[in-house]
Amino acid sequence: MPYAPEHDEVQNPLRHGLRADSAPEPCALVVFGASGDLAHRKLIPALYNLAVSAHLPAAFGVVGVSKSEYTHEQYQADMREAVGRFSRTKPIDEDLWRDFAAGLRYVPGAFDDDATFQRLAGTLEELDRARATRGNRLFYFATPPSTYPVLLRQLQKHGLIRPPGDARFTRVVIEKPFGRDLASARALNRMVLEAMDERQVFRIDHYLGKETVQNLLVFRFGNTIFEPIWNRNYVDHVQITAAEELGIEGRGRYYEEAGILRDMIQNHVLQLVCLTAMEPPVAFDADAVRDEKVKVLRAISPIEGPEAVAQRVVLGQYTSGQIAGNDVPGYQEEKDVAKGSRTPTFAAIQLNIDSWRWDGVPFYLRSGKRLPKRVTEIAIQFRKLPHALFGEGAATPNTLIVRVQPEEGIALRFSAKVPGERYRPRTVSMDFRYGAAFAAASPEAYERLLLDALRGDQTLFTRKDEVEAAWKLVDGILKTTEAPDAPPPDPYEAGTWGPPEADALLARDGRAWRRP
Ligand code: BG6
Repeated sequence: MPYAPEHDEVQNPLRHGLRADSAPEPCALVVFGASGDLAHRKLIPALYNLAVSAHLPAAFGVVGVSKSEYTHEQYQADMREAVGRFSRTKPIDEDLWRDFAAGLRYVPGAFDDDATFQRLAGTLEELDRARATRGNRLFYFATPPSTYPVLLRQLQKHGLIRPPGDARFTRVVIEKPFGRDLASARALNRMVLEAMDERQVFRIDHYLGKETVQNLLVFRFGNTIFEPIWNRNYVDHVQITAAEELGIEGRGRYYEEAGILRDMIQNHVLQLVCLTAMEPPVAFDADAVRDEKVKVLRAISPIEGPEAVAQRVVLGQYTSGQIAGNDVPGYQEEKDVAKGSRTPTFAAIQLNIDSWRWDGVPFYLRSGKRLPKRVTEIAIQFRKLPHALFGEGAATPNTLIVRVQPEEGIALRFSAKVPGERYRPRTVSMDFRYGAAFAAASPEAYERLLLDALRGDQTLFTRKDEVEAAWKLVDGILKTTEAPDAPPPDPYEAGTWGPPEADALLARDGRAWRRP
């Protein structure tokens, strides 16, 4: 039966999906990197949609800061255009936008220039008077990581960071990548925590803002029937796929530095591993949930040294090929990519989690650019039948598939009898689809995460020890794969499921990748 919306959702259908409790306090949000891609495509459209769904505090303002020379009015016009292009809800409500834009300011200037921060401080005081934002501040670092140290120093120097217990709150949202290896992540953590307290730090991973990712927690811990079989007694192995059709989309300079291990595995994919493998938290609060996630990361057996890496990691790089019938260039032909680049655009990894629950159950991860389709899913493959009563060929193991995107939902694959006189089983699928079960559209990941940061709820943000534990694992792999004598990534044609070596990784264990 389709979900029946509650009273306030009927009055305002856009409200659906975000909790209406604990309205955020008045606040001024400062976006560093205000003229960048993230602000245009995600942040300002997400804030506008929070205004549409009446989730923003009544007293609210936004200050954009970056080098580009805009006046307040030019910035407001530029953001109106961005919202027109990228907003999830359309058409744009002009009255609502006018009210939102009335609280939108812009401060041009370089981050190493004191004058920029003096102007910012002045603008924030003016916003406090004009919009009653009461001295509460949320700083959003939507800038390259190399700017974080100077931003932190300048905020401190200009008295813009208040201590954690202060009546006026200061919080900082920090975008990924949080460091480029374990050492730099630790150094960044040290620097951030010299300037403020962990309770004020919101390290963002937008996968945690996705409804389907959060639903994993509800699916596992809001039902009784799945948890008893969610372990080594019933599960043979787990496959996590985060595949993209897209290439690097003009981000060659960034991607050459990052590669798939830093761009997707260290953060998004490992978050999916944590939510799949974690123990039930004792409470649904930020620390209890994050404690359990950290335990998973710590229990993953390290992959270090050429031998372990050769056995359990396959890296690939796309060559030219076809996506959806169109010719696409190879990675090394993309703008800002070096000829002979060794940056991987694909990874397949076998992880083992050394715990009571998961001992002997491999987790196979794969992620890549220019794969045949965009799909993110977690597949729990259950054990084989102990005895093939209906014939060997028919004994297909059960699979539970959590589809994160697109076509969000959950599917259980099991055997059913083909009608007829014989006992001939065939695999069928029992499907739950978000779109069909819930009438209203889900909020975007950034809406949810911005709202949580405004409310001060850290549950869906990455804690210091968590980010370091994830880096520790990836660092072990990077040390080997980025060594001067390491072999280059294996080539794969754009539009295929990665190099053949990725298939061999599973074939060795007598298994095969699903074709999602
Ligand atoms: C970003 C990566 O964090 O996530 C991108 O930098 C990637 O390279 C993107 O394309 C994928 O996000 P989504 O939400 O489209 O799955």
